[in-house]
Amino acid sequence: MKKHNFSAGPCVLPQEVFLKASEAIMDFNGSGLSLIEVSHRSKDFVEVMEKARNLALELLGLEGKGYKALFLQGGASLEFLMVAYNLLETKAGYLNTGTWSSKALKEARLFGEVIEVGSSKDENFNYIPKGYTIPDGLDYLHLTSNNTIFGTQLKKFPKVDIPLVCDMSSDIFSRQLHFSQFDLIYAGAQKNMGPAGTTLVVVKEDILGKVSREIPSMLDYKVHISKDSMFNTPAVFAVYTSMLTLEWLKNLGGIAAIEEINEKKAQLLYSEIDLNPVFEGFAKKEDRSNMNATFNLTDSKLKDTFDALWKEAGINGLNGHRSVGGYRASMYNALSLESVGVLVDVMSEMERKG
Ligand SMILES: Cc1ncc(COP(=O)(O)O)c(C=O)c1O
Repeated sequence: MKKHNFSAGPCVLPQEVFLKASEAIMDFNGSGLSLIEVSHRSKDFVEVMEKARNLALELLGLEGKGYKALFLQGGASLEFLMVAYNLLETKAGYLNTGTWSSKALKEARLFGEVIEVGSSKDENFNYIPKGYTIPDGLDYLHLTSNNTIFGTQLKKFPKVDIPLVCDMSSDIFSRQLHFSQFDLIYAGAQKNMGPAGTTLVVVKEDILGKVSREIPSMLDYKVHISKDSMFNTPAVFAVYTSMLTLEWLKNLGGIAAIEEINEKKAQLLYSEIDLNPVFEGFAKKEDRSNMNATFNLTDSKLKDTFDALWKEAGINGLNGHRSVGGYRASMYNALSLESVGVLVDVMSEMERKG
């Protein structure tokens, strides 16, 4: 039986994507060759790479606006370093909203002065800092739009006249934003886009080439742009599967359509968390993430009963991250409303038992 997969990433992808990807493993485009044995320079794969890059820009509404899309390797974690390598000349600002922002900030400190413009560490990152001041003279401001571990999400983005960089690993393609307010967006594929192994970087070309240091080729966005994201052998399977997922999203009606579904899923789960006395939410209500819902049992003695119930219902991946504890339900694009319904039913059953 197919499980209801609430994993934080890698995570559920559309069933039709699994099917098409497995077909391509056996026979890519009727070529008599597997996707993973053909040359990445072959016409068929070059087309895949181009299509994936174009779909990413199209879905974000960034076509023809001076942006380039790249499918790189090294995970979002390598972007923590590459962003600073390519953009940090003297000082940068970071909003610290959780584990991933903290890691990004730590890497940037290797390259220049880093100012933490705000932090919610004082309350174990259960809220998004507001009303912070952005000092003058920054090379860029770095934000994390969705905090996968703590279950918080930025609803508003500061208006700045410096490059705005955003780690969107766990909510890219999930909600409508004015994506052109960002100058560089990066996201590991393994949540809303595909399997682990590739990272989408969308960068406005005119912010590059301004730092004085020499950049090693593999870490230089300009080099990857000049080679159409084929400077070295790309992660062919991850890029192909990402292309299939982006195609699926386009056919569904794009980000506007998926946002509506994501809203319904989040409302269903959060209203259960709020109405059911057996559970309590972790993140502050106004900052709750529509992608990752974090919650606890009000009575920890009920843990064994609840764990047995959700596992019996075919649910997978509900345990919270060790730095928060409790539970985390990740409701990425491909998770169905029906799966959230199954979880909510289990939670209601707990109320009857509890
Ligand atoms: C918001 C965010 N940023 C960065 C990362 C790190 O991604 P990767 O494992 O691809 O390096 C994650 C991983 O879950 C994440 O959720």
